[in-house]
Amino acid sequence: MTSAAAPALQSSLDIRPLTPVIGAEISGIDLSRSADAATTLQITEALHRWRVLFFRSQPLTDEQFLAFGRSFGPLTPAHPISAGLSEHPEIWERAATDYRTRHVHDRSIPVARPPRDYQGWHIDITFMANPNRYSILRGVRIPAYGGDTLWSNLALAYQGLSRPVQALVDGLTAVHRTSAYDSADAGAGKASAARPGPFAAQHPLVRIHPATGEKILFFNPGVISHIVGLKERESQALIDLLAGEITRPEYTVRFRWSLDAVAMWDNQATAHAGPIDYAHFDQPRVVRRITVAGDLPLGPDGFRSRVLEGELFGVIP
Ligand SMILES: [Fe+2]
Repeated sequence: MTSAAAPALQSSLDIRPLTPVIGAEISGIDLSRSADAATTLQITEALHRWRVLFFRSQPLTDEQFLAFGRSFGPLTPAHPISAGLSEHPEIWERAATDYRTRHVHDRSIPVARPPRDYQGWHIDITFMANPNRYSILRGVRIPAYGGDTLWSNLALAYQGLSRPVQALVDGLTAVHRTSAYDSADAGAGKASAARPGPFAAQHPLVRIHPATGEKILFFNPGVISHIVGLKERESQALIDLLAGEITRPEYTVRFRWSLDAVAMWDNQATAHAGPIDYAHFDQPRVVRRITVAGDLPLGPDGFRSRVLEGELFGVIP
């Protein structure tokens, strides 16, 4: 039986895990076609199971990229601080040169506090009280080698802690602030920056995943200025401890990009780092990102994230 309707996105996903704990490559799907509800649900379930999904060889137009993202919910502007593409304000284009000029070691960027080096590991946009739910990144120009991205499973990072440390972090909150990395994007050559910031939010250190109910170590190294209620050296020691935990190699997957590859991650349950080697290669690398709007994270004790400076992250209808 045939239909005259527009061809729907195929609903039979081929899911190939890349590690036992995080990352799966999805094939048997054409993301340029509009997604039906069943397929969107399948992708969402796979995403919550594997934390980050990879789709190879998906030559999408910007419009098709946006349509794919919108099937998972309203999209945010490209970034709270830096502007998106003029014709598509939801799309944030990143070139490798941007990363090099915004390297955390660049002492020319004025910072309120000394940078700490956690090799670029972060969760997207947690200096906002409602960071995005999902991030979707597409490879536009990909170097022959270099420019890989890593993701880490933050549910596993929580599970791997001892019970006493789990009990400690269950009851803590942290202040997340715009860093030199973010603020530099509102500087020279970025006249169309959305807002200069600063932004700050208070988040639970452990969040309950809104879909799966899991406890997630909601820890964003380099963006957390301090842990609320601790003495400064206690706060810094715990930050260093947790940074080591979330970057344990056994919790991570590393993705070798290819042209037109798409990576989609659950920003509620992962941290990522990439490109990790931008200081060492000079080949062109361009990616485009869109983000699906999220809600206010919830802690195990009922604490809801709140705005400290700035406002909530909006959506583009
Ligand atoms: Fe990111």
